[in-house]
Amino acid sequence: MPIKRMWGGRFQATGSDLANTFGASIFFDQEMAHEDIFGSLAHVKMLKATKILPAADADKIIKGLHEIDDQLTKDGSLPFTVDDEDIHMNIEDLLTKKIGPVAGKLHTGRSRNDQVATDLHLYVKERLPKVIDALYELQQALVDQAAENVHTVMPGYTHMQHAQPISYGHYLLAYFQMFQRDVERFQFNMKHTDISPLGAAALAGTSFPIDRQLSAKYLGMSDLYDNSLDAVSDRDFVLEFLSNASILMMHLSRLCEELVYWCSHEFGYIELSDSYSTGSSIMPQKKNPDFAELIRGKTGRVYGHLMGLLTTMKGIPLAYNKDMQEDKEGIFDAVKTILPSLKIMAGMIKTLHVNKDKMDAATHHDFSNATELADYLAGKGIPFRQAHEIVGELVLKGIKSGHDLSDISMEEFHKISPKIDEDVYHCLKPEVAVERRNSYGGTGFKQVEEQLAKAKAILAKQDK
Ligand code: ARG
Repeated sequence: MPIKRMWGGRFQATGSDLANTFGASIFFDQEMAHEDIFGSLAHVKMLKATKILPAADADKIIKGLHEIDDQLTKDGSLPFTVDDEDIHMNIEDLLTKKIGPVAGKLHTGRSRNDQVATDLHLYVKERLPKVIDALYELQQALVDQAAENVHTVMPGYTHMQHAQPISYGHYLLAYFQMFQRDVERFQFNMKHTDISPLGAAALAGTSFPIDRQLSAKYLGMSDLYDNSLDAVSDRDFVLEFLSNASILMMHLSRLCEELVYWCSHEFGYIELSDSYSTGSSIMPQKKNPDFAELIRGKTGRVYGHLMGLLTTMKGIPLAYNKDMQEDKEGIFDAVKTILPSLKIMAGMIKTLHVNKDKMDAATHHDFSNATELADYLAGKGIPFRQAHEIVGELVLKGIKSGHDLSDISMEEFHKISPKIDEDVYHCLKPEVAVERRNSYGGTGFKQVEEQLAKAKAILAKQDK
């Protein structure tokens, strides 16, 4: 028996099993089953309110949809079939089995094109606050650790070479800021997501006297598309999500990279908790930062989803084309990747142990106080360029003889300038170098305290 398709009226033959399976999306778009039912409920309530459907018919459909939704919540799935191609036709078919041919009235003044767009808007709208909450949890972990480490001094790097000593709290708050921009990007993403395409129908609107404002209200959407062609063919809100997710993963990946370095034997700045590490099946001593590596690795698939959809969309003429069925798996996977990545990262930060002594030790004997000496000389009236040259030569001498800048005697300092005083030795201490970088946003302890207060205020506002 050939399968009977909902659109089968003008067809005399059905496709092969391979073709039907290839064209179907039910394998993955069942992820939007709740959204599909919710979207249909908004549509049918509008059809009832505008008297396009008799109230009795609309009520039967509403009751049937609620029962299907309850079943879905209870069982976690429904008897979906590839014969019904996608989630939209599967739900409609289940409704028909439940309430009979009156179910066919649900699709009045609607097309699967505005239906699928509506479902996807609902899906993203529901996930955005979850992503933002997970970001806040990570930011809180960073702030808590920064609060305990304002005065923890560590090497700051450029080119992965010791550059200048910094506060570890300052370092953590740099990531707080990066994640705050992620929060703001996802918040903005809502503007283009919280907008209803429902009622755009196939592409041109409908001759039924529908009320799109009302269905948008039933959907809980703040706005509606002004142009029906745009409504059914826009996937910018998905691309924005994937772009935001890619930037977020890039941030997480950079942090992972550092965690991996820092828990290595060579650095030893931190130790990850046992709960976020794994062992080796052959080397008994191993404690591997698998989770940091895995988040770093998962960055690739999220970038891939962004590139995939950008490429899918780039050649699509208005309005709906089947290519757009490819818009879903990427975002579903991106959501399933970023949410646990954020939670794992928050857990890793909350539970890691900071080896303050190792961090501190790394700021000695490393010439990262060279800028301090150059600044000191410049403060004594020697032009900075000349001071830089002088200190460069002192560093070279020190490397050759195995001495630090603080080992230079007063006598030798006086050969450079008689204006140099005993206080030069104080300036060369790493913690003093950090303390003195008190320019706005700098690593000076006072500045870090101020940044911390601002970060806390951002998170406190969020709690309300
Ligand atoms: N399964 C389709 C998708 O995900 C739904 C829209 C189908 N519309 C159509 N005209 N074939 O894009």
